[in-house]
Amino acid sequence: MFPVLKNDRLIKSLWREPVDRTPVWMMRQAGRYLPEYRATRAKAGDFMTLCQTPELACEVTMQPLARYDFDAAILFSDILTIPDAMGLELYFVEGEGPKFKHPLTTAASIHNLSSDVMNELAYVPNAVALIRHELNGKVPLIGFSGSPWTLATYMVEGQSTREFKKIKALLYEDPALLHVLLQTLADAVTHYLLAQIKAGAQVLQIFDTWGGILSDSAYREFSLRYMRSVVTGINSNLTEAERVPIILFTKGGGGWLEDIQDTGCDAIGLDWPIDIGRARARVTDGVSLQGNMDPAVLRSTPDAIEAEVKKVLASFGRHSAASGHVFNLGHGITPDIDPENVAVFVEAVKNHSPAYHS
Ligand code: CP3
Repeated sequence: MFPVLKNDRLIKSLWREPVDRTPVWMMRQAGRYLPEYRATRAKAGDFMTLCQTPELACEVTMQPLARYDFDAAILFSDILTIPDAMGLELYFVEGEGPKFKHPLTTAASIHNLSSDVMNELAYVPNAVALIRHELNGKVPLIGFSGSPWTLATYMVEGQSTREFKKIKALLYEDPALLHVLLQTLADAVTHYLLAQIKAGAQVLQIFDTWGGILSDSAYREFSLRYMRSVVTGINSNLTEAERVPIILFTKGGGGWLEDIQDTGCDAIGLDWPIDIGRARARVTDGVSLQGNMDPAVLRSTPDAIEAEVKKVLASFGRHSAASGHVFNLGHGITPDIDPENVAVFVEAVKNHSPAYHS
């Protein structure tokens, strides 16, 4: 059993309950902008060893909390652990991002995939349990997965891409085969996230990094539908008391807020092109919102950072009895950011958000 949570602002905000101020965390908060992360990463040798060694994953998860007053920890891992466990063999080339040794190039390679991945992925719940122990109730722990669609893009392309030629060819030429892949991934993601909850994850986020590259109808058919299946699959396997808030983050998803809300998720992650006040009006406090400062602001001055934080808070506006806002960036922090500026960002949220909650 784990100790009682001392800071429950994040959980309360995600359930749309009143809090004293807006909670804040940052996507990629444990990462290369921190010198102590780079040191642990060097000690590990390579990125996958860092993910697969619970003690090291725990160490880097805790690093941003030692520096900043974040209201959450996020499991240190990667979304591409699932395809790796399915046999595609993930590796990283310096400066080129993730790659797979065995990308999906044939129909047979898709039909042969199994959603039964938790034997290979035991290191993830092991890390979750260790981090929960180490956190000792300080802040809640967020677990995560990629969305089925976003995982499929990497598995079919074999690496990062700007054009998505292969996955889009598959989508338009053989949609039935893509559905086979997405269903296998939805099942795997459901098992994976349930295992994270069982090990101690208190919030879940689904990263749909590439949902926004799809047409409206393709988004509904190939991305949203499978995220709905994951949300439903998780919640139908839990009692009311075991449930944890689920955040869906579709990068470029501003056109689909009502549809994302309709999946039954508890919060929508917003990227920065959308105004958070207008987003709130569209979902009418029926779901919590997370976001959404442009990460590029962190490359500017302390005054500019404070001004942008104030803008996002003012745009969201005063809280009602049923509203929820979690402050975050609109996407992950980049490696070139000065850690001092992150402190300015967190302090600005702490100082300026209480006025909106009284
Ligand atoms: O937010 C956190 O602090 C938790 C850790 C986390 C990482 N990756 C650590 C990581 C999370 C939540 C992710 C998710 C992830 N991974 C996504 C979705 C999130 C998003 O940004 O939309 C995606 C698309 C990936 C795939 C991936 N893994 C990429 C594109 C890269 C960067 C490759 C590069 O060289 O720039 C990774 C590697 C990775 N994952 C790093 C970190 C800190 C950097 C690797 C290193 O230390 O060398």
